Amino acid sequence: MTNTPPSAASTTSPLPHSPGGDVVKVGVVGLGYLGAVHAACMAELGHEVVGFDIDERKLAALQQGRAPFFEPGLPELLARVTGGEADGSITFTTDVADLKSCEVVFVCVGTPQRKGELAADTTYVQAAFESLADVMAGPALLVGKSTVPVGTAARLADVLADRAPDLELAWNPEFLREGHAVTDTLTPDRFVLGVLSERAESQLRRVYARPIAAGTPVLVADYATAELVKTAANAFLATKISFINAMAEVCEAAGGDVKVLADAIGHDDRIGRKFLNAGVGFGGGCLPKDIRAFMARAGELGADQALTFLREVDSINMRRRAKVVDLAREACGGSFIGRKIAVLGAAFKPHSDDVRDSPAISIAAQARLQGADVVVTDPEAVANAQRLWGDLTYTEDTDEALRGADVVLLLTEWPQYVGLDPTHVASLTRGRQVIDGRNVLDAAPWRAAGFTYRALGRPNA
Ligand code: UDX
Repeated sequence: MTNTPPSAASTTSPLPHSPGGDVVKVGVVGLGYLGAVHAACMAELGHEVVGFDIDERKLAALQQGRAPFFEPGLPELLARVTGGEADGSITFTTDVADLKSCEVVFVCVGTPQRKGELAADTTYVQAAFESLADVMAGPALLVGKSTVPVGTAARLADVLADRAPDLELAWNPEFLREGHAVTDTLTPDRFVLGVLSERAESQLRRVYARPIAAGTPVLVADYATAELVKTAANAFLATKISFINAMAEVCEAAGGDVKVLADAIGHDDRIGRKFLNAGVGFGGGCLPKDIRAFMARAGELGADQALTFLREVDSINMRRRAKVVDLAREACGGSFIGRKIAVLGAAFKPHSDDVRDSPAISIAAQARLQGADVVVTDPEAVANAQRLWGDLTYTEDTDEALRGADVVLLLTEWPQYVGLDPTHVASLTRGRQVIDGRNVLDAAPWRAAGFTYRALGRPNA
């Protein structure tokens, strides 16, 4: 089943048409979570788009108007843009030379964490720009959207100046959230344009003419600032989550309730309630690796002291996972051996099938390694989770996961888990233990149904 958050329910762009209907020939390199959404949205904004990726399976899906991963609103948007209903058009290719006549090419490839290090691996970004330098037929603007260590754009600009002086570089970071990627791309909070010339700025303003006309603010910056905006934003968000999770630790020690605390401090406009949900912490393909890469880069720049606090942000986050494993073991009576654990959720957050650095998988795997029989369920992420960690049992059927369980762990707050009827759950489980890893369940009905309810940073009574 699919759950579409209200903000992503409609993919029809609410944006006005660009003045004069200025169509830009746009290329997109890398069609992952970021690139596939960006390419489809550029077509929705009226441009003539060519999307490039080396993964033929992904391209085959996109060509047929199917999304190669779960993202609310993307299937409808792809159907529109491949079906000729959008103002622009889109084609897909595995040959980078098909981008040669594009006016603007966005590079959206990944920058994963390097194995055994904190730093980001920028090999794919470097390779993408080098292959574009080789194939582009005339003057064009190459635009980096990937999250990169500060200084990467300046280095790439030097490469372009040497190899293809007709090509100009811009850095235009992307702030989309999985689960809201389509609306975040069509109507973002802001555009950050890292450019060296007015010509580059005006090219990007042409591409984004419709959202700019609709009021999206534009900030023009140098390369370094544009790169830093993205890592700073993610570091801030990670810090905010770890702050409230640190408060959860203190609440656990002092007998306080972190949810009430978050509501109370969140009423202060200067603090705000968003990203103050305490629980198993942050995961995914961005926040964990981006704060680590940021620390590594600061170290290279001799500014490591400025970011040592991020080490603590990372540790607080990882401690929450260990805490849930401890709570689950306790709920099993001190040992996982011979116990069945039902894990509700595998994705790193709801409305996503992404399991990269998912707290849910990390906790499930720990319980399994310590001897539990762990059954994981998720409405969208089972296939991806199975590929990542085959030693767990998976089902898409919530009842099947719950049947015979000694302990129920809610680790991803999909609405169907938040809305579970505790009496129904009690009719399936062997034990009466529930651990709410996201602080989203209403404790009273669970307790009324006979469950011992435990959550993070909240009183047990
Ligand atoms: C993040 C940034 O939000 C986005 O701007 C950037 O472009 C990419 O990285 P995303 O990875 O899609 O986006 O997820 P996000 O919604 O930020 O959530 C990250 C993690 O934090 C999830 O695991 C989520 O469950 C967790 N989280 C979020 C909390 O634990 N508590 C909160 O209050 C909010």
